Amino acid sequence: MKALVVFYSLEGNMKGVAELIREFSDAELLQLHPVKEYPTKGAKKFIWGGKSAVMGNTPKLQPYIFDADKYDVIIIGTPVWASTLTPPVRTFLTENREALVGKRLAAVVTYMGSGAQKTLSKMRGLLEIGSFAEELTLVEPKAAKKTEVEDQVRNFCLKLKAACGD
Ligand SMILES: Cc1cc2nc3c(=O)[nH]c(=O)nc-3n(C[C@H](O)[C@H](O)[C@H](O)COP(=O)(O)O)c2cc1C
Repeated sequence: MKALVVFYSLEGNMKGVAELIREFSDAELLQLHPVKEYPTKGAKKFIWGGKSAVMGNTPKLQPYIFDADKYDVIIIGTPVWASTLTPPVRTFLTENREALVGKRLAAVVTYMGSGAQKTLSKMRGLLEIGSFAEELTLVEPKAAKKTEVEDQVRNFCLKLKAACGD
């Protein structure tokens, strides 16, 4: 299975999961960086980021190279912000919708405690797809028990490999 994880991570939770997926499935990683990064500290972090997510902003991303045809599966990873996907992932899905249509797609979401299903549903809506090949939701993986997170990610990778016929 040739996999790519496209993700955004402000504080490392989603990044850690992307790195585990790489470990278990040899995936390539594409981390999205907005030209203007969101604040990581204090109330500003929630106010600015939350507002941007609710408004459906599509911030300009730093240049990236993406060739959908190279992969059997593309895994899209986002933290939950205000019960929806992060703006940088929204930009990526908007910019690449045509290239993504018809591809095998999976999704990973990290969150604090609410809004994961709503976020997945928003992502499916943006992509105009009925379902992802696999979905994984993880509550604050950086702070969670390492072996439990590894088991969940390993299981996700195994199911994806099976879906790819490996
Ligand atoms: C602006 C902002 C809004 C957030 N909104 C939610 C939310 O609605 N529901 C939730 O469960 N977690 C929310 N969170 C928490 C993040 O989803 C969670 O910490 C996630 O694991 C962060 O991933 P990261 O470390 O890769 O950035 C929010 C965090 C930020 C910064």
